Amino acid sequence: MTGEETDTATSVDVAADAMDGLSVHACERCPRLVESRSQIVNGTGPADADLLFLGEAPGANEDEQGEPFVGRSGSILDDALRDAGLARADVRITNCVRCRPPENRDPTTEELANCRGYLERELDLVDPELVVTLGKVPSEHLLDRSVAVTKEAGDVVDVRLGERSYRAVVSVHPAATLYDGSQRQTFFETIARAADTAGVGDGDGGQANLGDF
Ligand code: URA
Repeated sequence: MTGEETDTATSVDVAADAMDGLSVHACERCPRLVESRSQIVNGTGPADADLLFLGEAPGANEDEQGEPFVGRSGSILDDALRDAGLARADVRITNCVRCRPPENRDPTTEELANCRGYLERELDLVDPELVVTLGKVPSEHLLDRSVAVTKEAGDVVDVRLGERSYRAVVSVHPAATLYDGSQRQTFFETIARAADTAGVGDGDGGQANLGDF
């Protein structure tokens, strides 16, 4: 095989070299992120979870603790999961990009592409019933089109990735609920809907708790 052919191998195969099961143990593909990260933040949760949550990239708390969604957004996600009859330990949580971008900026197209193989491999191995895309960046990355997250929140869509296909639900990012109260109900309802669609949780659609808003 020529060097050129190696470069054009599928991203999943190339990424597998740097992965140990579901975790990336070493990666230096994004020089800016190698500088800004203190560690690689891999996904957490069961390797056979029915529900997989996909965020954008680690922030400061995640970078420090080495776990996705452990800051304020994480507590909102935990609350919504609890409302749907689920615990964090029941679901898989991962990000499109595994290293913290400087000043929490959005990951670049190149960084998203560099990390894509790791995500595809994680999805392939976990094989979730449903992927929940948390916010615009993960929604557009997975659906490969522009997404109006507030308008499309709760929509169930089919996503084809190479040979595989997945069902996904678009969601607003949990942090959006901090700035816009109306997004809180949208977020909680979307997570309850996702749990129902994946056949997990308490199956009451979160309705008993809507008075909390
Ligand atoms: N926001 C994300 O998108 N991912 C995290 O891990 C934390 C916050």
